[in-house]
Amino acid sequence: MKAIAYDIMSYRNRDHPCWRNSRIGRDLKPEGICKKINRKTKGLLPVHFAGRPCEMSEILSLPHGLRTVEDCAHASETMYHGSHAGTFGDCGVLSFYSTKNLPTGDGGMILTDDDSLAAWFKLISQQGVTTVAWQRLSAGGYRHYDVAEIGFKYNMMDLQAAIGIHQLRRVERRWQRRQEIWNRYDDGLRDLPVELRSEPREGTRHALHLYTILIDKEKCGISCDEFMVRLHRDNIGVEVHYRQLADHSAYQNQFGWRTGTMAKRRTSEPADCFIAAFCQIDGQ
Ligand SMILES: Cc1ncc(COP(=O)(O)O)c(C=O)c1O
Repeated sequence: MKAIAYDIMSYRNRDHPCWRNSRIGRDLKPEGICKKINRKTKGLLPVHFAGRPCEMSEILSLPHGLRTVEDCAHASETMYHGSHAGTFGDCGVLSFYSTKNLPTGDGGMILTDDDSLAAWFKLISQQGVTTVAWQRLSAGGYRHYDVAEIGFKYNMMDLQAAIGIHQLRRVERRWQRRQEIWNRYDDGLRDLPVELRSEPREGTRHALHLYTILIDKEKCGISCDEFMVRLHRDNIGVEVHYRQLADHSAYQNQFGWRTGTMAKRRTSEPADCFIAAFCQIDGQ
């Protein structure tokens, strides 16, 4: 889970993520980003949430001089003015987790055209070891390995890659099927008092990973939680993307945060903008 993973990462590093929130499924306003940058800012992480591309040309033209890592976990089919999401920033990161559009069980992929970054990612993803087993044991003769950097065990398994290769040819067919289901959701929800996701922008392709709607209790006469319970009762899978960190017991215990306080304290957005339900459309 993105929100949890990033926070664990930053908590362990004693850094704090700065969330620049857009309303769910709506546009992240590039001009808002600059206001959040300060001397402690390490980099930008635009999230192509639900599969809808961020305004990459505007984001990249901002005068920040920071590294940009595109979060493409939802965006394996996302295109932005003729190029794939993940090819704009210094790198783009795809997720192949089992709920994603291109699942391999778990794992992911980093895209970059920077050779030195690519070499470093490769090194630290295999515990910083300079040679992998098949290189050490090959017919070319034994070579000692060296731990050149203190890395992680983040390599994707060959078995996962073998599954992924076969998923590739299904990607387009599944996208077409999701488009049909997406259109049905549009038709069914259009006249209801829920707030719908934004239309895909011209010159872009939405990966159609999540269909997001916003439930405002005032307008809908039902809370998001009640809405989800009822849909589950009807065998329709929905989930909140994402629960605030302040709703989770680990953060409540560690920092004394309480439900509903974080959005007001750490962003300028009202708490209810985080409450959205999504339906994963997968052709079922
Ligand atoms: C937007 C976003 N980014 C990143 C991730 C993390 O992906 P993974 O589970 O492959 O680490 C997720 C997972 O749900 C996500 O939704």
